[in-house]
Amino acid sequence: MKNLLAQPTLEFARTMHDSPRPEDDLSRILEEPGFGEVFTDHLVDLCWSERGGWHRPRVRPYGPLQLDPAAAVLHYAQEIFEGLKAYRHADGSIWSFRPEANAARFQRSARRMALPELPTEYFIASLRELIAVDGRWVPSAPETSLYLRPFMYAKEAFLGVRPAKKVEYCLIASPAGAYFKSGPAPVSIWLSTQYTRAGKGGTGAAKTGGNYAASLVAQQEAYEHGCAQVLFLDSVEGRWIEELGGMNVVLVKRDGTLVTPDSDSILEGITRDSVLQLAEDRGHRVERRPVSLDEWRDGVASGEVVEAFACGTAAVVTPIGQLKGPDFTVGSPDAEPGELTLSLRKELTDIQYGRAEDRHGWMLRLDQ
Ligand code: PLP
Ligand code: COI
Repeated sequence: MKNLLAQPTLEFARTMHDSPRPEDDLSRILEEPGFGEVFTDHLVDLCWSERGGWHRPRVRPYGPLQLDPAAAVLHYAQEIFEGLKAYRHADGSIWSFRPEANAARFQRSARRMALPELPTEYFIASLRELIAVDGRWVPSAPETSLYLRPFMYAKEAFLGVRPAKKVEYCLIASPAGAYFKSGPAPVSIWLSTQYTRAGKGGTGAAKTGGNYAASLVAQQEAYEHGCAQVLFLDSVEGRWIEELGGMNVVLVKRDGTLVTPDSDSILEGITRDSVLQLAEDRGHRVERRPVSLDEWRDGVASGEVVEAFACGTAAVVTPIGQLKGPDFTVGSPDAEPGELTLSLRKELTDIQYGRAEDRHGWMLRLDQ
């Protein structure tokens, strides 16, 4: 396990909360944290301006942001975010999983959305700083964590359409249990044939709010059909599968090959990359290539596709039991979770929670 960047290069000015969450309240929250509902006592923020670059690193009590009604983000959605987790190990130490990969993706998203790039050291320093003040919010119950949500938005008050000259970076955190109410049990997925989330040359590969806004009406449709997530195709004519609203998708073939869509309009998931690496380490073949809807649909019917799973920071690795479209259904909501899916989930979480050797050097300690 490596311990890079132990010394933050930024000096954060700290203003501490004068009434932090009482311990008994906090213990109750941490027992069953849900997802994204309760937030820690503090946030970290950092300003950027065209003239001054990154400046004014600080920690302050969690609370509303002050935003001019003309702030560009409210009108033109110039905004990006990330999602990663802090895990408590059995000895009480606090670790994150491949945060440099999140920092690099945050920089790629920034370039696509004409926002300034936050240096990796600042990204990591902000995580360490939040853990320094709110470390007691990292839960220790099985499969729980503290979800870290870095984001950056255009705060310049200006209604002309051009990249903003004033930007803010902010980090908030929220204790997290399972994203799906069903936990690691199989979920049903709804195929959207009417909507896509991203197009060629668009913003699909960036982690930006607009992609999620574009997914909501389809996600609503998924709920109406009893499904937990929506599957998007590359276009409404719909030949190639892309990803789910908030996670990547992987199919497992009868011969043990793992197949996942390769497309420049989906988010390059760090969970997916890691799980596929673990599968390759075990000798499985991995194919990153265009994957058609027919390959999935017909493959389940013929027995060629034996497992499917969703993967992402929030979802971890979640088996897909059923794929439903307007005129077809394959699989069953009561399907047994795939064996390989469950064992990859276990291997990944064992590394994240410090129960297995970190042979790829993925873990970074945050509480030092
Ligand atoms: N795809 C989308 C649209 C997502 O929102 C996410 C979650 O962040 C992912 C894929 C998976 O990415 P990661 O594994 O890095 O969390
Ligand atoms: C994440 O997994 O970090 C995401 O941003 C996806 C969202 C469903 C919470």
